[in-house]
Amino acid sequence: MAIFQKGDFSGLLVIQIPYIKSKFRTMSRRKFIKNSVLGAAGIMALQTNARCESGEVKSKELKGKGDGTREVIKPIVISTWRHGMEANHGAWKVLKEGGNALDAVEKGVMVTESDADNRSVGLGGLPDRDGIVTLDACIMNHEQDCGAVGCITDIEHPISVARKVMEDTPHVMLVGKGAYDFAREKGFPHKNLLTPEAEADWKKWKESESQKKPEINHENHDTIGMLAMDANGNLSGSCTTSGWAFKLHGRLGDSPLIGAGLFVDNEVGAACATGLGEAVIRIAGSSTVVELMRNGKSPQEACEEAVRRIIAKHKNLEGLQVGFLAMNKKGEVGAYSVYEGFDYAKTTKDNHELIKAGFDRKW
Ligand code: GLY
Repeated sequence: MAIFQKGDFSGLLVIQIPYIKSKFRTMSRRKFIKNSVLGAAGIMALQTNARCESGEVKSKELKGKGDGTREVIKPIVISTWRHGMEANHGAWKVLKEGGNALDAVEKGVMVTESDADNRSVGLGGLPDRDGIVTLDACIMNHEQDCGAVGCITDIEHPISVARKVMEDTPHVMLVGKGAYDFAREKGFPHKNLLTPEAEADWKKWKESESQKKPEINHENHDTIGMLAMDANGNLSGSCTTSGWAFKLHGRLGDSPLIGAGLFVDNEVGAACATGLGEAVIRIAGSSTVVELMRNGKSPQEACEEAVRRIIAKHKNLEGLQVGFLAMNKKGEVGAYSVYEGFDYAKTTKDNHELIKAGFDRKW
């Protein structure tokens, strides 16, 4: 069994490239076609919203009323990565019926948690170094209530357990066996989350030379974070992941940490993060983005500032991908990542679209 020193973690970040990249591409194309059909009721567009270094952001965001004011677009839901397209459908079913943002962000990411083809969230997620699938999730509503689970095993919907922690306990976070036992008490079924495909990937990784000589993988860490504003103008957010593939057993990333992987302040806005959790935690990422918005930055400017802070705080950016996604109370959104390749799904009554985020540098 490989033993990793502290410094070996850059290796763990990137080793899954041979397995994920091909799978991701196949899956992505299939899902993209499926999404095009699903989106026929609305308008689906692949919108370019890329900012490279000093480049201009092209974005159609808010419709003006012609009197200088801007309409608030609501309801609205956004979520990280291409898998957000399907997740947003789940959330939109709630929002379009006048449902609340909290229900929307829970139902939305549950779609991804149940997707066995997705190697980084829920069922089918890649396991840790010991071959155990451990999941992290958190949820937060417009009243600043929040709940989280960390390193939970054998439960398909950690986001719903996180919601139960929020609603049925005086605590914010449960981890490990305590989280599992709590979920079982609440009636969540036991489920083996290690699919044959994920197990095969893990076995391949264990045998692979890449353990010693890692390659850059910028498609790693595709956590789903979701932010929604309902018809009443209330915000909620959710975040769920299987985390860093082949991580040390017991490792928690940013995704279950309120303030790191997710933060909501209904007076200001909401933000979530994806990518290397250790880097997000170091700058209290999502909280930072919300505070920047509180101080007057747009969601786009806030995400860019947070990414720049990560860049400034890390000497070695090799393989260090982090992306932030944010929304303010006007329904304006922003996204930005360290490296090229981050995208997000945005759904309103008019559009269901995948948008390329701006980025600081190319791979
Ligand atoms: N952002 C997910 C993780 O680092 O676990």
